Amino acid sequence: MTQDKFATKTAVYPGSFDPITNGHVDIIKRGIRIFDEIIILVAYNSSKSSLFTVEERVAMIREEVKDIEGVRVDSYSGLLVDYLKKEGVNVIMRGMRALSDFEYEFQMTLMNRRQSREVETVFLMSGFKWFYTGSQIIKQVASIGGSVKGLLPDKVHKKLLAKFNNGRK
Ligand code: PNS
Repeated sequence: MTQDKFATKTAVYPGSFDPITNGHVDIIKRGIRIFDEIIILVAYNSSKSSLFTVEERVAMIREEVKDIEGVRVDSYSGLLVDYLKKEGVNVIMRGMRALSDFEYEFQMTLMNRRQSREVETVFLMSGFKWFYTGSQIIKQVASIGGSVKGLLPDKVHKKLLAKFNNGRK
């Protein structure tokens, strides 16, 4: 341990957010009850190809969180721990859904810890309603014409349908 207490009560909430879902919004609303400030970070995940550009994702998130005080949105294409260092933040916030998230999250947490001993990751359990949903499965279903209404903010839902050019839903 290099320090006893962190100086700020700010957390970075990183993710692909491709696109932001109601599950993400739920985690942000839970998180801001704990932290004074949350930076939602659209970060680069080399193992995923994205549907929305970084700019589109940032704009959609900004729209959804504009009324939540203490939340801001940013993007970064480098290492997460470098962004934290640059911003002087020590805490990563992540949502945890079902057991299937567990290994992936632990792997990332330990790798981030290996990169920087200054960083701690905290997990918030997502709302029960969002336990088995996520951007990937939502995109998969929407891409072949299935209904994903109610799983995403309305404006994001519309943009998703527009991407797949199936505005009939
Ligand atoms: O929403 P995701 O795709 O599960 O989020 C993963 C993300 C973007 C947080 C992760 O891939 C990440 O931190 N990317 C930034 C680059 C980095 O630092 N990679 C190593 C993480 S151990």
